[in-house]
Amino acid sequence: MNLAVIGSGGREHAICYKLKQSDKVKKLICIPGNAGTALIAKNIKADITNFNLIYKTLKNHNINIVIVGPEQPLVDGIVDYLSKKKIKVFGPNKFASQLEGSKAFMKNLCKKNNIPTASFGVFNNFNQAKNFIKKNKTPLVVKADGLASGKGVFICNSKNEAKKITKEILAGKFKSSNKVVLEEFLKGDELSYFVIVDKNSYRFFGEAQDHKRVGEGDTGKNTGGMGAYSPAPLLTPELEKKIKKKIIEPTINALKKLKNPYTGFLYAGLMIYKGEPKLIEYNIRMGDPECQVLMMRLKTDLFKIIDLATKNNLKKLKIQWDKRKCITIVLCSKGYPAKYIKNSKIMNLPKIKLNSKNQIFHAGTYKKGNDFISNGGRVLNITSIDEDLYNARISTIKIIRKINWKDGFFRKDIGWKIIKKNNL
Ligand code: AMP
Ligand code: GLY
Repeated sequence: MNLAVIGSGGREHAICYKLKQSDKVKKLICIPGNAGTALIAKNIKADITNFNLIYKTLKNHNINIVIVGPEQPLVDGIVDYLSKKKIKVFGPNKFASQLEGSKAFMKNLCKKNNIPTASFGVFNNFNQAKNFIKKNKTPLVVKADGLASGKGVFICNSKNEAKKITKEILAGKFKSSNKVVLEEFLKGDELSYFVIVDKNSYRFFGEAQDHKRVGEGDTGKNTGGMGAYSPAPLLTPELEKKIKKKIIEPTINALKKLKNPYTGFLYAGLMIYKGEPKLIEYNIRMGDPECQVLMMRLKTDLFKIIDLATKNNLKKLKIQWDKRKCITIVLCSKGYPAKYIKNSKIMNLPKIKLNSKNQIFHAGTYKKGNDFISNGGRVLNITSIDEDLYNARISTIKIIRKINWKDGFFRKDIGWKIIKKNNL
C-alpha cells in the first residue's frame, strides 16, 4: 500500500517512523515533511492549505490512504474535500473537527451530555462577559473560541486582567475567534489521553504526560510542549473506566446522534483531581510531543490499525503496548516560545547512532546540501525507552549533549513529578 502523511512536525516524523516498520507499506510520502521524514519517506513540497494541490499530489503518487497530522487542515475540512474525491483519508470531518476548532462547540456539547468539564460561559458581547467575570472567583480562564496555535488560553489571577483579555479577543486579537469562552480554573494534574475511533467502535491509544511550560519546574511561558513521558502512573484502571464512561463514550455517542460520527485520533486533555477526570479540551489529532513517546511504545503495526480504522473494523483489533518507560525531550531554538533563532546549522546529527531504544524525531529542520538546519521553535525530539524512566532520561540527555547544538536549549527535568532523582 502507498501511504501519505500530512504535516511537518515531530508527530509526523514519529508516525512515518512507525509506518515504515510495516511490511505492508510500499511507498511513504510526507507532505511537506522535514529533514527527518526525508530520511525514511519521500518529502513532497506542497501548501497543505491548498486542498486541490494536495489531491493532485496524492493522485500522482497513487496514494491509498492519507493520514492528516495537524489540526488546521482538519478544521478547514480536508477530510470532506478528499472523501468527496474518493480518497481514503484518516481523520475527523469538518463538523466533528469543531471539537477542537471551536471551544464553544465543545463546551456546549459537554453541557448537553453531562460530560464533566469546567463551568463556563460563551460570549460575543463584552457587557455580558463582564457580568460573568464579576460573579465568578479568580483565577479565571479566558479562551479564544477558535484555533490560536496554543496561544489563545489565558489564566487570569485578577478580574481586571480577565476583562482586558476578554476585550482584546472580542476586538479580534485572533482572526479565528469572534467569541470568548470564560471558564472556572481547574485544580489538579493534567493527563493526555488518546483513543482511535471509527464509526463502529473505539480503542485506547495510549496516555502521556506533557510539560507545557518553557522553564524547569513547570515555570514560565506556555509552549507547544517541551517534553513528555508515557506510561503515566496517574492513569489507574479505575480512573480509566471513568474517563471512558463519563467523557469519551458520551462524546462519541453525541456526534453519532448529530449524524457526524467521529473518526480518527481523539486526544482528551484532562484535569485529574482527587481521582475524578474533567475535560479541559479536545484535540482532533495526536499530541505533539506525546505521539513521539507513544509511537516508540506501540507494538502493533500502525498501518494495520489505520487500515482497519478506515474500514470501520477497529473492533477486530487488540492494540499492544510496550510496558517500558519512554521519554521525549524537545530540543528548542534559543528564544522559543518568543522570537527564536532560525537557520542555524546543527552539527553532529549524522554521527549519532539510533536504534529501537533511542530515536531522534525531527520537527523544525530542513536540509541544505549535507547540512541539517533549524527552522522552527521546537527543532528535535530526542526520545528514549528503557525499563526505568530515569535511565531513559539519562540516555536522552546524553544524546542531546552529543548533538551539542550551540543555539539550542532543553528542559533537563522532564518527568520530574515521578522521577525523584533530579541530580543531572
Ligand atoms: P489549551 O490550549 O486549551 O490546551 O490550554 C492550555 C493549557 O491551559 C492547558 O494545558 C492547561 O494547562 C491550561 N488550562 C486550560 N483550561 C484550564 C482550566 N479551565 N483550568 C485550569 N487550567 C486550564
Ligand atoms: N502537546 C500538546 C498538544 O499537542 O496540543
